[in-house]
Amino acid sequence: MTDPADEAPQKPTAFELVGGEARVRELVDRFYDLMDLEADFAGIRAMHPQTLDGSRDKLFWFLCGWLGGPDHYIERFGHPRLRARHLPFAIASPERDQWLRCMAWAMEDVGLAQPLRERLLHSFFDTADWMRNHPG
Ligand code: HEM
Repeated sequence: MTDPADEAPQKPTAFELVGGEARVRELVDRFYDLMDLEADFAGIRAMHPQTLDGSRDKLFWFLCGWLGGPDHYIERFGHPRLRARHLPFAIASPERDQWLRCMAWAMEDVGLAQPLRERLLHSFFDTADWMRNHPG
């Protein structure tokens, strides 16, 4: 017997709504370009290595899975342990907010539709807020 759930139309994942791997890469590249260029983000830029190539790859791999697409990050590194991996950096509300502003700006620049940007920003907020490890 056929399970009716098998025939129900699947809701698209956020990964599909963004437009797949090429568009996630575009978003990550714009995010780190802005972080590199804009004085507003100098605080979080200073926490990163001089060259951002490795950071770009890791965030791209991570976001593909986080958005419901392929698990490139987990395949390479195992469980993300994202909070633990951020413990070497002092992250308080100003750093969280810089990260989120940089991502909001990048999402706008690459032309994601406004309702999708809003939905993703809410999810990014929850993850970024959970990364705070410092008072203030
Ligand atoms: C809250 C503010 C945040 C700050 C200040 C911050 C800062 C950083 C820094 C300095 C690194 C190290 C980069 C490197 O080693 O190349 C890093 C790595 C990373 N961040 Fe963040 N981050 C923040 C939020 C987030 C959020 C919200 C996400 C995901 C949605 C994220 C995902 C990652 C990933 C996947 C890595 C690579 C981890 C690894 O394998 O080493 N970060 N972050």
